[in-house]
Amino acid sequence: MSISARLALAVGILGLFTATLRFLSSGTSTARAADAPLWESARQCQECHQEAYDEWASSHHGIAFTNPEVRALSDDFRREECMDCHLPRPLAVTGFGNRTLPRRTHFDEGVSCISCHLGEDGGIVARNDRPEVPCKPKRSEAFLSVDACMSCHNQHQTTDQWRASHYAQQGIHCTNCHMPEADRKRPDGTVRKGRSHVYPGAHDAKMLSQAGTFTANKDGKDLVLALENTGAGHNFPTEERHRAVDLEYRFFRGADAIASDGTGGAPEWSRAWRFRQPYRDEPGENTQLPAGKKKEARVSIPEGATHAMVRMWYRLTPLCDDKDTARSTLLDERKVDF
Ligand code: HEC
Ligand code: HEC
Ligand code: HEC
Ligand code: HEC
Ligand code: HEC
Repeated sequence: MSISARLALAVGILGLFTATLRFLSSGTSTARAADAPLWESARQCQECHQEAYDEWASSHHGIAFTNPEVRALSDDFRREECMDCHLPRPLAVTGFGNRTLPRRTHFDEGVSCISCHLGEDGGIVARNDRPEVPCKPKRSEAFLSVDACMSCHNQHQTTDQWRASHYAQQGIHCTNCHMPEADRKRPDGTVRKGRSHVYPGAHDAKMLSQAGTFTANKDGKDLVLALENTGAGHNFPTEERHRAVDLEYRFFRGADAIASDGTGGAPEWSRAWRFRQPYRDEPGENTQLPAGKKKEARVSIPEGATHAMVRMWYRLTPLCDDKDTARSTLLDERKVDF
């Protein structure tokens, strides 16, 4: 390594070290004004931002370190690398857009207000400069950019998928869909518009049902099931490799279910297509549906069939079946007459 590269590395490490100290120590800080509050916990914000606090506390950001699903898979965080994004230091410490590092404080706060809203100078970053309010928020482009979400949300290319979509070209940010407007009551009783911190996603039936447009039609001798990604700003499904979207069908002759070869007795549903990114050691391609794209799956209609029932399911894991309603959400069901 050249001298200048070494020097640059040393300066980089020193910078990170001092920044970390500044945010993690309760001692004095050079950047923070002597009389400015030391922001360490979501509880401090709760005092004046109860609504945002309540939304956040019930959200997957709020539960990121306590979530039983995550605790089980991370062996109760004995797999320490899982803390990087589930118990992160403030984004500003590692830089908006860079992969986060783990912290060792406030274990119940997961992805805390502090993780997102703390600025490099120890103050609050926000959309507007508001020197007149107690927490003195300052506008930050880095905080408002998609890079802020990318720090944790590109492990499975969700941010890259968004960048490749028409939403990115139109400037429709992650927060346009994931942080809708919400009412905020001021102490004097007046109401202003804020932004919801619930962050609906894979655990929200309404959000899931907005992601795609499902159709099913007879075309000649085929039943055509089609899904168009009309509402997700990235692939559908996205992120976690567990997630899957299934298109299913079942043929009938009158009241009786029939098999695809026209014989009687086919009580189970058949799958026409599965949208999913396989696990690393699993064979197969990524079949997630990119934003704006449409996929058709064709099935031959058996002789004598009078109609079909079709369904679209969202699965939190690929292994759960239709009866597992805690992890399977029925997004659509309808009848197609022949
Ligand atoms: C002592 C009360 C108080 C505390 C504590 C407080 N805030 Fe605020 N904050 C306010 C008030 C008042 C406003 C202005 C609300 C309005 O527009 O009516 C505000 C506004 C904001 C805004 C919006 C700025 C904008 O873009 O318009 C953000 C973001 C914010 N606070 C974040 C935080 C965070 C994060 C914390 C905790 C680390 C926090 N605040 C702690 C009182 C407080
Ligand atoms: C680079 C950041 C990052 C790291 C490192 C990380 N995660 Fe996550 N994790 C996320 C994000 C972002 C989500 C939310 C996206 C989603 O649900 O698909 C998530 C979601 C999850 C979920 C789904 C929770 C639910 O309720 O459905 C589980 C389980 C999980 N992570 C386990 C782990 C485990 C185990 C590790 C360590 C091996 C780990 N994560 C490391 C960012 C990360
Ligand atoms: C510091 C890391 C981090 C940052 C920054 C971050 N997230 Fe997350 N996010 C997570 C983790 C971790 C989870 C999943 C926690 C869990 O389920 O246990 C998550 C969950 C979510 C979910 C819910 C997924 C579900 O399964 O229901 C959505 C939606 C989401 N984040 C959107 C965003 C958006 C939009 C931004 C940018 C404004 C953002 N996140 C910034 C780490 C982060
Ligand atoms: C995952 C990152 C993230 C977390 C965690 C987070 N926020 Fe925010 N918050 C944002 C973003 C991004 C905006 C700006 C949305 C915009 O205007 O585009 C915002 C806006 C706000 C606003 C101004 C809008 C409003 O609703 O009044 C307040 C106040 C606020 N946050 C407080 C909090 C508090 C308090 C917490 C913790 C309880 C918190 N935030 C947690 C990302 C986050
Ligand atoms: C046009 C609206 C829209 C935009 C823009 C958008 N999303 Fe989503 N997002 C959705 C919908 C709808 C879903 C539910 C369907 C799905 O999982 O794909 C979703 C789901 C998610 C989930 C849940 C995945 C899981 O497995 O738990 C995460 C995390 C997420 N989005 C993050 C982001 C991030 C980060 C960005 C910006 C880079 C973003 N979204 C941009 C609409 C949007």
